[in-house]
Amino acid sequence: MNDFIDATVEQFARDHTEAESDLHRRLREETYRVTDRPQMQVDAIEGRFLKMLVRLTGARTILEVGMFTGYSALMMAEGLPEDGRLITCEIDPKAEAIARRYFAGSPYGHKITIRMGPALETIRTLSGPLDLVFIDADKPNYSNYYEATLPLLKPGGLIIVDNVLWSGKVLDPQDADAHAIVAFNRMIQSDPRVENVCLTVRDGMMLAWKRSL
Ligand SMILES: C[S@@+](CC[C@H](N)C(=O)[O-])C[C@H]1O[C@@H](n2cnc3c(N)ncnc32)[C@H](O)[C@@H]1O
Repeated sequence: MNDFIDATVEQFARDHTEAESDLHRRLREETYRVTDRPQMQVDAIEGRFLKMLVRLTGARTILEVGMFTGYSALMMAEGLPEDGRLITCEIDPKAEAIARRYFAGSPYGHKITIRMGPALETIRTLSGPLDLVFIDADKPNYSNYYEATLPLLKPGGLIIVDNVLWSGKVLDPQDADAHAIVAFNRMIQSDPRVENVCLTVRDGMMLAWKRSL
């Protein structure tokens, strides 16, 4: 899904990005075959970018808010060192069942802990410090996820937030999700606790780097 870049240019970028592993390709195909909203899954470029960010930041402790069938979690787990850990939050048991199967079939799956239940409740049980947070769940709660996880993030840690351009609907928000994302972007833009950059990767990714205050 990318409404901002010409489809042929997007394909060129994909053709010049490290290919998906066979496991990731099968996970993508199954997700598109058996789930109602497969487009929620990050694409191959964003997945690779997440893995690259994990590597570049040297993250060892990651929290993901919104696992779905596990594509992004598996990508980030690949970028973690052997003793690295990723906690991922989900509420949908059907998505969980698929993710568990693919995690079990991956040499990186043992780094992932699934926490079922509303993410805000799970976050309340965590103590940190976290090195990296990936927020990709229900849009009306984006600001709440951000506020709940920022105190757990180490100074110099990174929060990555997906879908911040919402297919361009942020320019003329008409529904609750679009309004929530506009408010979230505005809040981050004026937050002195972080340095931020809004990227036009896929559906828009916000990177917020936590300052030492
Ligand atoms: C956009 S999808 C995540 C996609 C995933 N990162 C990937 O790349 O495959 C959002 C997921 O968040 C889950 N979700 C929605 N509300 C939630 C909540 N309150 N707590 C935890 N997960 C939630 C949904 O069930 C859905 O699977």
